[in-house]
Amino acid sequence: MPAYQISRRTLLRGAAGSAALLAAGCTRDPAPPAPTGSGSASALGLRFPPSFVWGAATSAYQIEGAANEDGRGPSIWDTFSHAAGHTRNGDTGDVAADHYHHLESDLDLMRGLGLKSYRFSISWPRVLPGGTGRVNPKGVDFYRRLVDGLAERGIAAVATLFHWDLPQALQDRGGWENRDSAAWFADYAGVMYAALGDRVHTWLTLNEPKTVVDVGYRFGVHAPGLRDPGRAFVAAHHLLLAHGRAVQAFRAGGRGRIGAAINLAPAYPDDDTDDAAKRATELADGYENRLYLDPILKGSYPADVLDDLGAGAPMRAAIRDGDLAVIGSKIDVLAVQYYNPVFVGASGSYETKLPTSEASWQQIYPQGFYDILTRIRRDYGDIPLIVTENGRPTTDQVRDGQVDDPERIAFLRDHLAAAHRAIRAGVRLEAYHLWSLMDNFEWAEGYGQRWGIVYVDYPTQRRIEKSSAKWYRDVIAGNGI
Ligand code: FCB
Repeated sequence: MPAYQISRRTLLRGAAGSAALLAAGCTRDPAPPAPTGSGSASALGLRFPPSFVWGAATSAYQIEGAANEDGRGPSIWDTFSHAAGHTRNGDTGDVAADHYHHLESDLDLMRGLGLKSYRFSISWPRVLPGGTGRVNPKGVDFYRRLVDGLAERGIAAVATLFHWDLPQALQDRGGWENRDSAAWFADYAGVMYAALGDRVHTWLTLNEPKTVVDVGYRFGVHAPGLRDPGRAFVAAHHLLLAHGRAVQAFRAGGRGRIGAAINLAPAYPDDDTDDAAKRATELADGYENRLYLDPILKGSYPADVLDDLGAGAPMRAAIRDGDLAVIGSKIDVLAVQYYNPVFVGASGSYETKLPTSEASWQQIYPQGFYDILTRIRRDYGDIPLIVTENGRPTTDQVRDGQVDDPERIAFLRDHLAAAHRAIRAGVRLEAYHLWSLMDNFEWAEGYGQRWGIVYVDYPTQRRIEKSSAKWYRDVIAGNGI
């Protein structure tokens, strides 16, 4: 059992050189502009490069609903959320934000905000109800309408192929523990490249394999709900292999560009005068970051993590000759998701040193965003980066038809300031998608946490722009904060 602890969701809870600056096209206004919109966050006078792309993110199971319509098959999240005791209040994604039936108005909402890019995910069981084999034309049609609607509105489509809703039929065949999962995933990816290839700007294979491994397979808090480190890291290897196979399938005929969405957590010793804490931090960094970045970007697993897993670890036996070359197939872009740092004690325990958001796993630390972005460039080279998730939940309430969420505005502003500094330091950061466009089903937390810039009144499915949405519209229009 690895000596580190999980950074999130363990419990179901109650200024760089001016040359780089100019090269990046990033500027600082001589005087901050007057705030134009909600006015609730002071403007910092930071302009982003003219080519910078502003977006927002969602995922299929969290917003679509229509769980039993038009031939969609069940996913592991349908199974998991319907079994007692797995989600807050027994919430499920059956209806969620009912995006499936609000597609056109949600697209108009995106245009109204001025989004330049929308990052969504495709529900594998909506398209292939049994996971492999028969394609469901109505499922494909939904995503075609989505990408056509985005194109009509001048919004770039960033499509994630796997955001955790594995077809239940494939779980029944062993899911990610079965090596065949890599081939199932590549076949499904091929179906989507062929169906939507002319409309998708950027493809992303996996969303946060680390969360699947840790929260789904080690801590049993997400689907499929296992608590088995041996099986967890076998799943990790097959997820990564699936990523590599999907990249290879893309090279054989896909259009656009491809990468993976990896959640990164910069690790710091809780006491930087303590050598044991520093060593534990290095290993925690291995599990949090290098276990996913190294194979994808360097074609190798980090030796310290493999050592820590032990010579007899089932994952070691699952790695076959040639796998790492597949996993390390060249990608065009790395999608970074940043929510929190980890502070590591001498024993490998994770400490809470900073205030958290309503998500108790989320310590708020914008500097960590800068640190992780610059670290990728330092350790992995100059690969183009896009941010595909960053955000926080707030306890929102509707008052006089308005939802005021100043904490979210402050969070986004401070993290964007850190991203701006990273660009000035030479990081090739091309785009930012906040999490999330709208409130949604937050996995084990159900509907109890609201992460959107748009409030969803679930009983009526009415959308209300929060003050953060109005603020973000101004950010996009002004290309800066
Ligand atoms: C990320 C997930 C996303 C959402 C946010 C809050 O880990 O990718 O679906 O749950 O956290």
